[in-house]
Parts: sequence; C-alpha cells; structure tokens
Amino acid sequence: GQRTYLIGGNWKCNGTLAENEALINTFNEAGPIPDNVEVAICCTYVHLPQLLATLREDIAVGAQDCAVYEKPGAYTGEVSAAQLKDLGCVWVIIGHSERREGFGMAGEPAELCAKKCKVAVDAGLKVMFAIGEKKEEREAGTTMAVCASQLEPLAKVLTAADWDNIAIAYEPVWAIGTGLTATPEMAQETHEAIRKWVADNVGADIAKKVRIQYGGSMKGANAQELLAQPDIDGGLIGGASLQADFFNVVNGVP
Ligand code: G3H
Repeated sequence: GQRTYLIGGNWKCNGTLAENEALINTFNEAGPIPDNVEVAICCTYVHLPQLLATLREDIAVGAQDCAVYEKPGAYTGEVSAAQLKDLGCVWVIIGHSERREGFGMAGEPAELCAKKCKVAVDAGLKVMFAIGEKKEEREAGTTMAVCASQLEPLAKVLTAADWDNIAIAYEPVWAIGTGLTATPEMAQETHEAIRKWVADNVGADIAKKVRIQYGGSMKGANAQELLAQPDIDGGLIGGASLQADFFNVVNGVP
C-alpha cells in the first residue's frame, strides 16, 4: 500500500492484570514488526498504566473512548483526552459501534462522536474514528449513506491539519464479533467509497493520505487478503487481539 498500515487491537472490556501480563509477554516476544506497519493496543482506562509500563515500545497504547469535555471539572466518572495524553497514550478509539449503540442505554449520536474526536485531536491524541453500517442497513442498500452520516459531522469540526491525526475504522456492525467477515471485495468496495467521500467532501490530498482500517472478525487467517486490497490500510481487531494470533495480522501486511 501507499500508506503506512495501521493495525489496532481493541481489547474492549477484557483482561485482568494477570491475563494482560501474559498477553503482553506474548506480544513482547513476538518478533519484529514490519517497517510499513504502525501497531497500537487500546485497553480499558484502568489497564493503561500497565500497558504503558510493560508493553514493547514499538506498540503504542490507546484508550477506547474519552470525555467530550475540553476542560477538567465536575464530570464524575469521565476521563479526559488531556488526561490520556498526559498519561502517555497516543491513540483513542472514538465512535465504536458498541458505544454508538449504547449497550441498551442511550448511545452516542454522530455529533457527539465528532465533537469527542475534535477534543481528542486538540489534546494531542490520534483517533481511530469508527463508522459502519448494521446488517439491515447493508441489506437496504444504505451502507454508504450511513457511513456518510457518521462522517459528515466529523468533516464539519475538523481542520485540514487535524486529518493527519485521524484514521477511519470501517467496521460493518454485522461483522463484529460474529465470525462473519466482509469479503475482501465487499470491504474494498466500501473502503473505496469512503475514500471517495473524503475526497469529495474534505479534500483529495487528505483522501489520499487518510488510513482506512477494516474491523470485523479480522484475524490471522483472513488478514492477508483483506490487507492486500488497495484501500484497506490496516485493521481494528477485537477478539483476535486478545491472542497471539494478533501478530499474524500484523505480519499479514503486503
Ligand atoms: O474494534 C474492533 C471491532 O469491533 C472488531 O471486533 O474483531 O472481535 O470482530 P472483532
């Protein structure tokens, strides 16, 4: 690919100190990371210090969300982007479909996700901005309309320079944690359409540079053919990032 690949692990709400220690040791001993790949692991807030202290230095550490508030203050239970940056985080995932959905409670609207992304970039973090359609939306033929509706508020709040710190994580919701991966052709088609959307609505130069990661049941066994697609610039990996198999994804880049 013409862009440096970005392979993110999203540990979601998994792990204990002891389990993490074992997995960190596995990753630390997994051999060199190819030169054309950037790797990051996003863990729970409480495990960030453990990863920052013990994970190999060529894997960046990130969080899975941050507060929308720009200033410290009376926001019980929130963690700010500035606090993540201060701790040593490089990345944060914003707008994961699980958060957009809300786990059966009020989820995060597209405007909120966009605002969080802007706050995070302003605080000096890089963002994996997750978008993607649900099964019924794909079946109704509205995949790109859904992706566009998630990107529109983002394009409104970001400056051209902000885009240097953004990766788009395209995750078809029906492929997350289900074992159903989009076929490489299906994923490529949507990635290409997303890049075209960015070219038309943000700028051609930015569209050329922005990394678009695929997410949804990606693992060692299917990574190579996905990563071989011209508009797939990496992955956001859930389940397989909790296993040694994560490094088969890292090593699956062309
Ligand atoms: O953020 C990661 C995605 O939700 C993919 O999760 O690899 O377990 O399907 P999964």
